[in-house]
Amino acid sequence: MAIDVNALWCVVPAAGRGARFGGEIPKQYLPLAGRPLILHTLERLAAHPRVTGLVVVLAAQDRWWPQVGEINGKPVRTAVGGSERGDSVLAGLRALPDEIDETQFVLVHDAARPCLRYEDLGRLIAEGARSGGALLAAPLRDTLKRANGFNRSIETEAREARWRAFTPQMFRRGELMAALEAASARGVIVTDEAMAMELVGHKPMLIEGAEDNIKVTTPADLKLAEFLLEKTT
Ligand code: C5P
Repeated sequence: MAIDVNALWCVVPAAGRGARFGGEIPKQYLPLAGRPLILHTLERLAAHPRVTGLVVVLAAQDRWWPQVGEINGKPVRTAVGGSERGDSVLAGLRALPDEIDETQFVLVHDAARPCLRYEDLGRLIAEGARSGGALLAAPLRDTLKRANGFNRSIETEAREARWRAFTPQMFRRGELMAALEAASARGVIVTDEAMAMELVGHKPMLIEGAEDNIKVTTPADLKLAEFLLEKTT
């Protein structure tokens, strides 16, 4: 089977409110090593020669987007997101250029993950094309506890075969749109693209990636991301 990853676009959902972070400025625009966090994320994606262009999905009332039209010579489009992450990703997929037909692969990557490694992105692209759909992830290494409503540990869950899902995730445009639309029609809120794909019967390939591909969620993560940005490529 021909692996068509010649025109590989990446949808970058950035329409979240970052409620867990707090503060007025959404976390994706906070300064990281002197520049808005999201620019680091976009640069890491655009640095890969297989990535052709980017669609950044913004909140309707976004006032902070730095209005970049291209990065590393690659076009940057924008779309307006929705109330859930899945709605935002769907909006981004609809905003892809017409020449990206439904059989072509697309990447989806959180704006809030600026420390993506070049090598992991390359492996995801290769393995995603080979397997028909894949995501970066890491096997769970800690013991997993179930808490009651008072933070008392009431049960220990098996950690075998449990993985933490990261982004980027890579799927065919048409299959991913159909899966996200199906989840939305069923009223299921999906927390990543792979979840939508699983719900309609796909089995995305888990590609082990570096655990320092963190999602900046709290103020402490910003400091860590700054450190990691300097140490990784
Ligand atoms: O909220 P969480 O950290 O899981 O969000 C992951 C990514 O999805 C972030 O980059 C966030 O901006 C984006 N998002 C979105 N639209 C939403 C919710 C989250 O684009 N409605």
